[in-house]
Amino acid sequence: MTLGVACLTQATPPAIGKDPVTEQKIEALISKMTLDEKIGQMTELTIDVLGDFVDDEFRLNEDKLHKAIAEFKVGSFLNAPGSVAQSKEKWQEIIGKIQAVLMKEIGIPCIYGLDQTHGTTYTLGGTIFPQNINIAASFNPGLAYEAARVTAYETRAGNCPWTYSPTIDMARDPRWPRVWESFGEDCLVNSVMGSAAVRGYQGDDPNHIPAGRVAASLKYYMGYSMPRTGKDRTPAYIADPELREKCFAPFKACVEAGALTVMVNSGSINGVPVHASASLLTEWLKEDLNWDGMLITDWADINNLYTREHVATDKKDAIRIAINAGIDMAMEPYDFNFCTLLKELVRGNKVPMSRIDDAVRRVLRLKYRLGLFDQPNTPAEDYPLFGSTEHAELALRAAEESEILLKNQGNILPLAKGKKLLVTGPNANSMRCLNGGWSYSWQGHLTDRFAGKYNTIYEALCNKFGSANVRLEQGVTYKPEAGYAEENEPEIEKAVKAARDVDIIIACIGENSYCETPGNLSDLAISTNQNNLVKALATTGKPIILILNEGRPRIINEIEPLASGIINILLPGNYGGDALANILAGDVNPSARMPYTYPRNQAELTTYDYRVSEGTDKMEGAYDYDAVISVQWPFGYGLSYTTFEYSNFQTNATSFTANDELHFSVDVTNSGTRAGKEIVMLFSRDLVASLTPENRRLRGFKKLELQPGETQTVTLSIKGSDLAFVGADGKWILEQGDFRLQNGNQTLNITCSKTHKWDTPNK
Ligand code: BGC
Repeated sequence: MTLGVACLTQATPPAIGKDPVTEQKIEALISKMTLDEKIGQMTELTIDVLGDFVDDEFRLNEDKLHKAIAEFKVGSFLNAPGSVAQSKEKWQEIIGKIQAVLMKEIGIPCIYGLDQTHGTTYTLGGTIFPQNINIAASFNPGLAYEAARVTAYETRAGNCPWTYSPTIDMARDPRWPRVWESFGEDCLVNSVMGSAAVRGYQGDDPNHIPAGRVAASLKYYMGYSMPRTGKDRTPAYIADPELREKCFAPFKACVEAGALTVMVNSGSINGVPVHASASLLTEWLKEDLNWDGMLITDWADINNLYTREHVATDKKDAIRIAINAGIDMAMEPYDFNFCTLLKELVRGNKVPMSRIDDAVRRVLRLKYRLGLFDQPNTPAEDYPLFGSTEHAELALRAAEESEILLKNQGNILPLAKGKKLLVTGPNANSMRCLNGGWSYSWQGHLTDRFAGKYNTIYEALCNKFGSANVRLEQGVTYKPEAGYAEENEPEIEKAVKAARDVDIIIACIGENSYCETPGNLSDLAISTNQNNLVKALATTGKPIILILNEGRPRIINEIEPLASGIINILLPGNYGGDALANILAGDVNPSARMPYTYPRNQAELTTYDYRVSEGTDKMEGAYDYDAVISVQWPFGYGLSYTTFEYSNFQTNATSFTANDELHFSVDVTNSGTRAGKEIVMLFSRDLVASLTPENRRLRGFKKLELQPGETQTVTLSIKGSDLAFVGADGKWILEQGDFRLQNGNQTLNITCSKTHKWDTPNK
């Protein structure tokens, strides 16, 4: 695989117009379907309703299958039994049987969905990639594409045609327990990486998904990641301009890249649960974007409209609200009464038949596009590269490109040869920690049972530096297979004692795995035990390299000054330990950058694109604002073992209007002594605007590799309209006036000569 960034970011989105032949088939089928059959197509149940565990093995139950399929006509199922990964052979057996019963009883294939979110989460023996937050940190969309392509292939090896991925909802709040599922805090990065992932999952023609690809599901439409409390599935309050300009942007880009399904935000925005919002679901997504794909709820979210949100009187009322708002398929996931209640609603004219038909058309279109009518099953033998070395190499490469060097005092890294190392901290010897949530199980808590053949950080360092040179004494440990925040009684003095006999301390700290609500927190600081461990180790005077292995940025301001080197490996997956060893040894030159702003203090949470007045510290006279933005590391930050110099920043358009193509070129030179990869980032700032302008906005990026002494000219192109924003009236506007563009340490000013306002909701 080449870097491939330019061709992926600039590829023309494939045409997503409807296929007339498919549409005829849908009409022919729908004209013959009963109301029960139609409602069955709109229902998705969890696999657990179809069977039982016998001696720890999941077995489908004929009676339960009959009830769900013959009686209730249910057309979609999801999840792994007990939320634990299965072998591809077991998946073939489970999904193959469901398909056989469905084809016999109804003649319409099942669409089975799994959270294969960073590789084959739920298929044992498959390839696990770094989490999306790492892919974002690589700033290499080629990796997003390739990881998704391989995941799709290996998912099909288990006979599954649909994944609930990618998450493209920006991670704007560091407290949110789902930060690691997404591509970080910026809307452009989520748009670019998400579009690449969609093409990787689905291929180039959304109307005809080949048997080696799967349907993608964009998550979580939208604004889910900005809850006021920082907690999962709680309300967000988002001003209209931000909703339109930033939250919606990745969804628009990925729909234009052909995404076939979208999963809805479990929470509410400005008091309106998104599952109840006809405006966001039907107008913004389906009508404004002319999108003919399928909208699925998140887990039990129709029920939540009455049990949690209290916008419905009972379940029937909740179904009425959600289906009328635009939901096409309910991830119910346990109860058949969705079917009976929806039928009553249709009979009572509370949900129009036209809405039912629209939803069913969308479900059938998805099944036709996936080729499931012609080939309901994809046999495992058609996928010989499942879990192959080729796929493993790609996952290793993705991990290497995604671990961020944040501090390197006195060039302590790469490590000099022959040093004795202490590997310490709770994350030092755990595959669970490297992978995070959605890994072999929902919470990722069983990973060490299933991923024993891969290397923890400790094992990888032993392989790289020789076990005689590497000692393990953790000092702090997590409770095995327990909740993510549970630690054992610390044994810090043991680690301190061990440190006395080594040259360098590698302190691996961070978080254990979690997923969704169980990952909520009330304190963003790293745990007290871990803080104490690093402070105690520092008393030995031995240099400390901090390895941060965490799903979101935990505050480390007390111990950061004690470290000589820091690498944030995020959640790099099964090959993350090997990747780190390669970086520490200098066999790989780190090239990742921060995909989010790392906070320094609990009460100073922000993103890089804050409005300029949030960073004002002085004013004339007696009054000091003291509104200084202070962060540990900014978005886009990251070091290399080499150095890069920027020069000769130029543009073709010092004066421009909305329709102009603007090209920005800059010379980048590798001024150090090692080959390295640099991420060229183009930022803009609107100098004066009718809404207080943002500090900076990322407008384009490109990753390139340079040999020592080599110079390349990099051109990043945008449209004049890309510098527009959504104004106070909710409309896009490009305002006349000056903009400052920045690339590395280079800046230049350009001027928009004519204001342009859009009357349409989208530019
Ligand atoms: C999660 C989704 C997931 C779904 C299906 C929900 O609880 O929020 O991310 O896709 O379950 O497993």
